[in-house]
Amino acid sequence: MKRSSSRRHFIQQMSGTALALAATNSGLAFASQWQNKVDGYSKKISPNDKIRFATIGMGIMGYNDTNTALRVPGTELVAVADLYTGRLARAKEKYGNSIQVTQNYQDIISRKDIDAVIIATADLWHARISIDALKAGKAVYCEKPMVHEIREGLEVIDAWKKSNKTMQIGSQRVSSIGVIKAREAIKGGAIGQLAMVVANFDRQSALGAWEYTMPADASATTVDWKRYIAGMKDEPYDPKKFFWWRNYKAFGTGVAGDLFVHLISGINVITDSKGPEKIYASGQTCYWKDGRDVPDVMAGVMQYPKTAEHPEFQVMLRVDFISGNSESGGTQFIGSEGVLTLNGNGYTIRYHKMSKAPGIGGWDALETYPKKMQEELLKSYNEKWSAADQKDQSEPDTVFQAPDNYDEDLEHFGHFFEGVRVGTPVVEDPVFGFRAAAPCLAANDSYFENKIVNWDPVNMKLVTRL
Ligand SMILES: NC(=O)c1ccc[n+]([C@@H]2O[C@H](COP(=O)([O-])OP(=O)(O)OC[C@H]3O[C@@H](n4cnc5c(N)ncnc54)[C@H](O)[C@@H]3O)[C@@H](O)[C@H]2O)c1
Repeated sequence: MKRSSSRRHFIQQMSGTALALAATNSGLAFASQWQNKVDGYSKKISPNDKIRFATIGMGIMGYNDTNTALRVPGTELVAVADLYTGRLARAKEKYGNSIQVTQNYQDIISRKDIDAVIIATADLWHARISIDALKAGKAVYCEKPMVHEIREGLEVIDAWKKSNKTMQIGSQRVSSIGVIKAREAIKGGAIGQLAMVVANFDRQSALGAWEYTMPADASATTVDWKRYIAGMKDEPYDPKKFFWWRNYKAFGTGVAGDLFVHLISGINVITDSKGPEKIYASGQTCYWKDGRDVPDVMAGVMQYPKTAEHPEFQVMLRVDFISGNSESGGTQFIGSEGVLTLNGNGYTIRYHKMSKAPGIGGWDALETYPKKMQEELLKSYNEKWSAADQKDQSEPDTVFQAPDNYDEDLEHFGHFFEGVRVGTPVVEDPVFGFRAAAPCLAANDSYFENKIVNWDPVNMKLVTRL
């Protein structure tokens, strides 16, 4: 793509000083579209036309996902599965006595009257339950990361293709209007040629570092530990490995699988990319020395190759669980003519274009030459370059912000159930989900095995370089 001409096109469309206003207006225009959508959600759908779903894994995200799914019109929760009895009791309290509760997810997927399942278990169970559910003819909403191990990815994709069912992965930012608008801006050349993306999650709390409140009755009786470790080497019940599973690589995927994956999902959708081909990560367990075997501070570098959709660019990711920056995060797309910063469901673009003239004086060699030569050099420079040529160019920022009541989770679930109801394809299908997850899991391999990982993002395979 000719970047400066496409950028001109983007600017012309939004015309000069009207940029900031136009951006705000596009936020306003979207606010009314969103309100219409939310109003439309209050329409009644006949009970015969309801999508009956069940949630497998009723922890923090299981409850969040279920509540969001129930806001989409025409959905009904009929069953939940979880391995800890307290969460099953809570499900009855919250959703009524009529729902089925079970510790065995097979009881759910064998039911003929269930159309879809939400899988919000610890990461190690995602692939197994997805494959079983697809084989049983269920549509699947599976939380990110799609898989716990890279080797599981193609198996899930295969099961999905054979099933002809909708499957969507749960990185909700992929459906965010802020991300969709950012994609339009970058595709339209707003920041010139993309060269670098810098993204982070910073945290500074025990909960942020995954030390969640344990239930008062946690024990080998209330937790079905044997089922939890099915297929693994036997080991005694350990409440930390159950309730704080993210901290153990046998059950979770560390900060890379858990958080890099959100960043990579956003980056891949905005740049229309299949992903990086070279991955490197380093890290340390810096502060949360609670027995965890995954780092709490991690940096990753990923190299995205040039493709028909985008130029070559580098991605730098960081997660810091003991950050004096407090709880914060963001993604910056740095181009040759500006920077787009994603913030929540919106973005800001700051424009800055290099002057035509190369510059002279200041931090330069000029001052080191004899006085007379300096004067001559300055004179010929000013003859060659006009005042306009010598100025850096900047324009007012462009800002897009979704309305306050905008909810990307609801949008994401809306897409999923539309897929289930009428078969529209979803963006974050298993191919997208695996292309986002695999580089993050590869970042873990890079960290644990102290190596650079080569990845083929088109064919979704690890590459061995001799
Ligand atoms: N999209 C997001 O923004 C987002 C946010 C948080 C978590 N997540 C994802 O959601 C998933 C769950 O995270 P969480 O924070 O809710 O964890 P959690 O520990 O609060 O809940 C996980 C639940 O899964 C249950 N479980 C584990 N194995 C099971 C099995 N075989 N059958 C039935 N239940 C099983 C456990 O009993 C537990 O209650 C993770 O994959 C996580 O990455 C996504």
